[in-house]
Amino acid sequence: MSDTVVVTGAASGMGRAVVDRFLAAGDRVVAVDRDAGQLEALAAEAGPALLPLAVDVTDRAAVEEGLAGLLDGAPVRSVVNAAGIYPPTTLADYTAELHDRIFAVNVLGTLNVTAAALPHLRAGGGGAVVNFASVDAFAVSPGQLLYSASKAAVLSLTKSLAIELAPDRIVVNAVAPGWVDTPGNAATGRMADVAAGIPLGRVAQPDEVALWVQRLAEPGYVTGETVVIAGGSAMR
Ligand SMILES: NC(=O)c1ccc[n+]([C@@H]2O[C@H](COP(=O)([O-])OP(=O)(O)OC[C@H]3O[C@@H](n4cnc5c(N)ncnc54)[C@H](O)[C@@H]3O)[C@@H](O)[C@H]2O)c1
Repeated sequence: MSDTVVVTGAASGMGRAVVDRFLAAGDRVVAVDRDAGQLEALAAEAGPALLPLAVDVTDRAAVEEGLAGLLDGAPVRSVVNAAGIYPPTTLADYTAELHDRIFAVNVLGTLNVTAAALPHLRAGGGGAVVNFASVDAFAVSPGQLLYSASKAAVLSLTKSLAIELAPDRIVVNAVAPGWVDTPGNAATGRMADVAAGIPLGRVAQPDEVALWVQRLAEPGYVTGETVVIAGGSAMR
């Protein structure tokens, strides 16, 4: 029987690329996204191996109820927390609402989905969680004040969860992408300029990040680590 994995932010960008990799590997994918329309289109394309769950990851009760209903006690091997938002903020223009929204999706959402999946990871005797941080967690970018702070929080909770869940044989790691060829980044019109400043001379394709997510989604001996996927632009 195929393994079951849970992917958030599944309807777009890198989450979508991760879904495609898991489906190609024969896994059953619970695809979580708040965009019901995009999720429906994805489900129609993917077929019965994809179970869509249209839910906002900031709503813990809805995530728990949705996952429990879809999985019906089935074990989960891996959880990928890709849902994230990155509206620009500075000291000059931040608001309490923006702060709460960014941290709710990027930090609380990661915790909510991990907590909701925990009984299902335990049911399989262990597993793997992969979180999405960013190079902005280390290197920061101008105009990404709160986003960078939220991704630094994701790095920290990745390490704390690695310790907390180790007795359950659940590993917890993160990826930290740099610039990726996603529609949102393309819309900035800065891709060519940005690429010129990256040692490898180009931005990443979403599948190049998905490849590392898939590797980290295999339970193994690496835990509490963050893999930087940035073409050499953010060494640490
Ligand atoms: N794009 C980049 O260059 C880049 C770089 C580093 C890190 N990241 C991080 O990688 C992850 C994926 O980025 P992307 O650019 O591929 O994303 P994207 O914007 O293309 O897709 C994000 C998806 O998450 C969903 N989503 C957002 N908020 C949600 C919520 N509250 N509940 C459920 N679903 C929600 C959206 O509907 C969307 O389908 C994010 O965590 C982002 O912060 C992106």
